[in-house]
Amino acid sequence: MTRFTDPDSASARLFARARRVIPGGTSKANLHVKPHPFYLASGRGCRVTDVDGVERLDAINNFTALIHGHAFPPVVEAVTRQVARGTAFAASTPEEVALAELLTARVPAVERVRFGNSGTEAVMMAIKAARAYTGRDRIAKFEGAYHGYYDDVQVSFSSGPDTWGPDDAPASVPSSGGVPKHRVLETLVLPWNDRDAVERLVTAHRTELAAVLVDPLSNRMGFIPPADGFLAFLRQLTRAHGILLIYDEVISFRVGYHGAQGRYGGDPDLTAFGKIIGGGFPVGATGGRAEVMEVFDPGTRGARIASGGTFSANPVSMAAGLAAMQAMDEAAFERMDRMGAALRRRLGDVLRGRRVAGQVTGDGSLFRLLFTERPLRHYRDVDQTAEAGMEALFLALFDAGVLVHTNGLGCLSTPMTEREVDELAGALERGLATLPATSPRVGSARR
Ligand SMILES: Cc1ncc(COP(=O)(O)O)c(C=O)c1O
Repeated sequence: MTRFTDPDSASARLFARARRVIPGGTSKANLHVKPHPFYLASGRGCRVTDVDGVERLDAINNFTALIHGHAFPPVVEAVTRQVARGTAFAASTPEEVALAELLTARVPAVERVRFGNSGTEAVMMAIKAARAYTGRDRIAKFEGAYHGYYDDVQVSFSSGPDTWGPDDAPASVPSSGGVPKHRVLETLVLPWNDRDAVERLVTAHRTELAAVLVDPLSNRMGFIPPADGFLAFLRQLTRAHGILLIYDEVISFRVGYHGAQGRYGGDPDLTAFGKIIGGGFPVGATGGRAEVMEVFDPGTRGARIASGGTFSANPVSMAAGLAAMQAMDEAAFERMDRMGAALRRRLGDVLRGRRVAGQVTGDGSLFRLLFTERPLRHYRDVDQTAEAGMEALFLALFDAGVLVHTNGLGCLSTPMTEREVDELAGALERGLATLPATSPRVGSARR
């Protein structure tokens, strides 16, 4: 198999061109592996082919966005039909209304929806709505959770021991350049699954907080599930203080027909969506209680949020999303659940069989490989120093014919079958075998 790192590979040659016109040679920063990014030419079903003609099993699916993999026939058909009719108008279309109807029918807490172009925008709209509705400015988020690249949330999703402060009062640390210092400090950071600390921190800032933002199953945090009753506790605490509860389901909507809130409960005021609801096209959506969502109504005199978006709710994304989501009926989610559970078990068996100190987390069609055996309660339990080892594993899996995220995140798509589950387990087995025996992660498992 041609490694993209070969200096004569087409990826290497494309990188030489790309770095002259694009910083680092890519706009897709998340998979920027050393010595340079790789480039893909095409995808079909659950396989992608790189510019060197090498085919791999795609277990990252554009960062979990493609629940049907690539070139899913119903999406291709819907999009082709729509493109011929027009790709964007200065008006709404029936497709926007139909996708909004689908989301409100599936998620009881979502009575109204408004569309944007990305998950980042969806979270931003939810935060602005919470501010407009409550008249307060600050938000709280959980340490280790990623919510896109809006200023208020680029805080403490990658903080480390040097700067993160006490366990029960995490410091607000910038996780990116370009975020004004005062904005970082405005965001209150909470420890996941720690009721006492959350109650103390939220109560202390109750008159300033517009919203508590929570991802019920955060990838960046390592897919550590909410402890029993934790989401219900957050609901009760926020309601008691007139603070809105926002769920970020940009990734976690993958876990079930009614989303993560159907799976784990919690009854949020607002929910941010993205990824799978666009059927592979750019999308974001903010939904929630009708009374709160009124702040977006452009027809109301004195609409409280001035918001636009030239390509918001463009009919191509809406048609693609509708086709993709209609195909994800309850039976399809159940099938993904079963396959996901089997895959996580198989991958865990491989880690144990090779005596690797690690575990496999996730739910539904999502999985995450982690190089730690520690029981996971919150972000600080995920070994931050294991990231370098994970990049080596990414490259080993890449060479073994499987594409995952450099942080060990992966997901299934509907074209996959048991054959692909076997293939993923086999690739992990082979990939781990190629990691240096001196690797501290290999052969160090406690028995
Ligand atoms: C939980 C979560 N929220 C928000 C976002 C931002 O979405 P987008 O990349 O579409 O802007 C992401 C992106 O990965 C995400 O994982």
